[in-house]
Amino acid sequence: MDATTAPSAQKQHLIDPEICIRCNTCEETCPVDAITHDDNNYVVDAEKCNFCLDCISPCPTGSIDNWRIVATPYSIEDQFGWEELPAQEELAGTGEGGEAEDDEAARLIAEAHAGSGGKSVAPASASKPTINLYNRSRPAIATVTGNFRLTDPAADNDVRHIILDFGDVTFPVLEGQSIGIIPPGTDASGKPHVIRLYSVASSRDGERPKHNNLALTVKREAQGLCSNYLCDLKKGDKVQVTGPFGATFLMPDDPSANIIMICTGTGSAPFRGFTERRRRTMRDAPGRMMIYFGARRPEELPYFGPLQKVPDGLLRKHFAYSRVPNEPKTYVQDRMRATANEVSVFLKHEKTHVYICGLKGMEAGVDEAMADICRGSGMDWAQLRAAMRTQGRYHVETY
Ligand code: A2P
Repeated sequence: MDATTAPSAQKQHLIDPEICIRCNTCEETCPVDAITHDDNNYVVDAEKCNFCLDCISPCPTGSIDNWRIVATPYSIEDQFGWEELPAQEELAGTGEGGEAEDDEAARLIAEAHAGSGGKSVAPASASKPTINLYNRSRPAIATVTGNFRLTDPAADNDVRHIILDFGDVTFPVLEGQSIGIIPPGTDASGKPHVIRLYSVASSRDGERPKHNNLALTVKREAQGLCSNYLCDLKKGDKVQVTGPFGATFLMPDDPSANIIMICTGTGSAPFRGFTERRRRTMRDAPGRMMIYFGARRPEELPYFGPLQKVPDGLLRKHFAYSRVPNEPKTYVQDRMRATANEVSVFLKHEKTHVYICGLKGMEAGVDEAMADICRGSGMDWAQLRAAMRTQGRYHVETY
């Protein structure tokens, strides 16, 4: 948290009211009584806080680990009234409050969610996520227990399923959340490498049920520093992990919620987690799940084999291949148009959630397909999308 500050600016410790579970742990822990609460919020008194950080690790949610660079500190009365944390204010001469290390992940998350077209909202029935438990100065150390190629040996893409075990380190994640990976070493100017975010591909109870581990789906990029680091990992290697991150791209816990998932390539990672969650804990859920999955060819499709085995009753599957010889180039949006009836039945249902994850390029095409499908069945997509977003039923994560 070495924020570069202008002389008049100062760092302020704050608690995120959207995530705090009001358990009183921080207030009990603070050695200088800087933390207090009213009926609404737990807050930090800027005049008393001495940045000892004693409160940070006991907090079960990570809501305690929030910081702003401010010209004038927020008073405890200001904080009592908050429903959410204020954005970092622009401060002359500080370069927007400096490069606090947690901002790195926050910026990446915000960029990935930019396509949702507004403030993302978590599904009403989603479990409360834990975020920011570990950061660059306090990473969790995970051990690699598996690294398997998911794509056919003949495929262009080398996509891998990497399993990280956290041993006895607490690392709670929900389906749809991401973790940060700190690649070892420094860049040409001697600075540590930027943290990269990866979506978790397993469900909350572990890649292996009841194990403290998780899986990532990683595609080796030709010049990708972190993807090559991860794809080359061997069993037993140690990895520095930050996070967990992400408080909105979460699955509804309500078993009667329908879920439409639209993805390309490694964008399938969170949807593997969603599917596993339903398969393990809600096999007879009345809500339906449907996936539109785009890849160059079947050989390039991560989890192709296991996906085929998921029964249709649990997950309705639509594949779109763009480079199968002698077949027309098909994108996910083309498959959606070809199955417009199914999509519109889902969209008309007030418990349907839409998730889009993968290449940024697909956003516009999917949006147009949605608009056409809605037009064809008497709905207005712009209106519906806006309503779904504010109700926590429309989620975009692209890169
Ligand atoms: P393409 O054959 O045109 O590259 P990748 O294999 O690079 O991870 O991509 C996954 C899939 O996403 C590929 O089938 C790719 O097709 C497809 N794709 C690329 N651009 C778009 C787009 N704008 N909309 C939908 N799918 C796309």
